[in-house]
Order: sequence, then structure tokens, then C-alpha cells
Amino acid sequence: MSSSTSIPSTQKAILVHENGGADVLKYTESHSVPTLSNGQVLVKNHFAGVNFIDTYFRSGLYPAPGGFPLIVGQEASGVIAKIEGDNAFGLKVGDRVVWMAGKGYAEYSAVPADRVIKIPDGISDEHAVGGYLMGMTALSLIKEAYPVKKGETVLVHAAAGGMGLLLCQLLRDVGATVIGTAGGPEKTKLAKENGATHVIDYKATEGPSWVEQVLKLTDGKGVDVTFDGIGKDTWEGSLEVAKRKSKVVYYGNASGPIPPFNIAKLSAKNVSIMRSTLMNYIVTREELEFYANGVLDLIKAGKLNIKIHKVYPLSEAVTAHKDLEGRRTTGKLLLKL
Ligand SMILES: NC(=O)c1ccc[n+]([C@@H]2O[C@H](COP(=O)([O-])OP(=O)(O)OC[C@H]3O[C@@H](n4cnc5c(N)ncnc54)[C@H](OP(=O)(O)O)[C@@H]3O)[C@@H](O)[C@H]2O)c1
Repeated sequence: MSSSTSIPSTQKAILVHENGGADVLKYTESHSVPTLSNGQVLVKNHFAGVNFIDTYFRSGLYPAPGGFPLIVGQEASGVIAKIEGDNAFGLKVGDRVVWMAGKGYAEYSAVPADRVIKIPDGISDEHAVGGYLMGMTALSLIKEAYPVKKGETVLVHAAAGGMGLLLCQLLRDVGATVIGTAGGPEKTKLAKENGATHVIDYKATEGPSWVEQVLKLTDGKGVDVTFDGIGKDTWEGSLEVAKRKSKVVYYGNASGPIPPFNIAKLSAKNVSIMRSTLMNYIVTREELEFYANGVLDLIKAGKLNIKIHKVYPLSEAVTAHKDLEGRRTTGKLLLKL
């Protein structure tokens, strides 16, 4: 059994035919609309989220799932245009939904029904996807990767970025002391407005290094946990500012991946390290609903403010990637479909 609205045979999409810089993102208006398998829904996307991981698949840092041409994009919001076969989640054609799976930079995406969540009334499509993958990630970091407790001191790198602003807000609500790092005065101000207790401009060319400043702020002891999504440029400093018996959670590679290193180094302070990814916290439907509804509830209650940096037309995906990788953005980037 399937139900549907009128669906064209071709659509707008961004195709990647080979790995490379942002310019390999090619806009087309004649890509075929996907056909559905049993248990999938076709979503007519309104907004797709831009995430750093999209640049990793584009560049080849992460292998392209399913080969080329590749459609990057992990998440989007829109309406259900068609449902095929089993429909265990009570979805209906016309439902407003947000989803996280793959092939998001396209007008239509075939998504397994169990990866689709209805958007509650009172939340816009922009805010639903603007806070979705990143909000779930931020929640998973502070609840599972390292369950942060009131009074603990937490270091958040790139505190004015998409992830950073959400982490600062959530950690303020937990009652943690948040030390943020950010590049430049505008970003440091924004991170502070979003909940960071102290913000260090780690791009400043004069004065003590960010490592020295974190140690000074913590009386030389270091922090209880660091959430590091920058990777190559910060990983050594993150270990330096780790308190004895603390944890460093690496969750991304904005500056490049961390090189192999000697685990024996950790014994100097009995430090734990972790490489965390959202995907492994939302494997079951129950886990997905826990984090997805957790985020959507926070947005609806006005407890999580989603800052949209800019909405780019789909045809300007190249500019969106260049802005994100060029450190010119704060908050979330979206593509309008
Ligand atoms: N593990 C997961 O499940 C998961 C999920 C979502 C996101 N992530 C990761 O979270 C991190 C942040 O993602 P996001 O989308 O929110 O990006 P973002 O933080 O909005 O943008 C990246 C920021 O990193 C900082 N940065 C420092 N060195 C950089 C460099 N060499 N190149 C580019 N940026 C640099 C810049 O901020 P400053 O100018 O302030 O330095 C830049 O604005 C990424 O590593 C991403 O992969 C992981």
C-alpha cells in the first residue's frame, strides 16, 4: 500500500561527482526523484541543515556512502509526500517532519520511516532542522559522552559555532562553569551571551595562549571535561588543560583529524579520552525519540535558542560550505529547497 501527493519525476539537487573542495558541489534541476522501498517515506524537503560532516564526505575525509554521484546532507525538514508499505509510526502524507539519514541536499529524500519525527506545532521548519542534528549531538555529549554535573568546569571549543552555541546554553542550564574558546571579538561576545562563563579568543596574537588562560581560570588544576570538535589544532592543548582523572571528548575535525598518538601519554593524569558520534547514540527508535523529542521540547519551551546564521538557496551550497570552512559563520547554516 502506498499513498502520495503529486510528485514530479525530476528535482533540484546538489551532486558530488568527485571528492574535493567546495566547488565540487554541483547544482542540478534534473536529478531523478528517488523511488521508495518498503518502510520508506518520501519527504519534500523545505530546509536542509548544513553540517561540518557534509564537508568531510565532500572532501573524502570520510568515504562517500554509496559511491558517486553523492548527495551530501544528513538532515532536513519538510512534508511527507509519499509513504510506501509498512508504516509503524502512524505517519501521514502532509505531516510536517524533520529527519536525519542521508542525501539531504535535494528537494525530495527517501527516508526510512523510523528515522522521521513529526514537528510539533509551534516550531517552524527552520528551527526544527536548525536545532535537530546539532541539538541531539549536544544533548548526547552532555548526557552520555560525559554526564556533566552542576558545578563542574567544562571547556567548549568553537563556542560560537553551531554546536558551540547549543552546548553553552545547555551547560548553563546544568549549572556548569563554561569556558569557551572562539575566534575574534564578535564570536566571544556571542558565546558569552549564550551561556559561556568565560570566553577566550584563541585567535588573539598577543597575550597568554588559550592553554595558559584555561589553566589560570582553573587555578592550575584544569577542567573536568573538554568538548573538542576542532581536532588537529586543539587536541594537544585539550589534553594539557585536562584535570587529573578528567575526560576529553573529541567529536569532530573542523581543523583536520587528530594524528595517531601514544596512549601512554594519558597516564600522566589518568585522563580518559573518547571519540563520540551522535549516530551511535540514536541507533534504536527509542534512542532517537529520546534525543529528538528532547531537543524539540527544549525548542518549543523556549529553553534552546536556535541561531540561524543564514539561509542559502540550494544553488548556493558552494558558498555555504566555503563560509563554514572559512570560519566566517556563527550558529546554523541552512539550505532552502
Ligand atoms: N560527533 C558528532 O556526532 C558531531 C555532530 C555534529 C557536529 N560535529 C562536529 O562538531 C564540530 C562543529 O561543527 P559545526 O557544524 O557546529 O561547525 P561550527 O562550529 O559552526 O564551525 C566550525 C568552527 O570551528 C572553528 N575552527 C577552528 N579551527 C578551524 C579550522 N581550521 N577550520 C574551520 N573551522 C575552524 C571556527 O570557529 P572559530 O572561528 O571560533 O575558531 C569555526 O567557525 C565539527 O567538528 C563537526 O564535525 C560532530
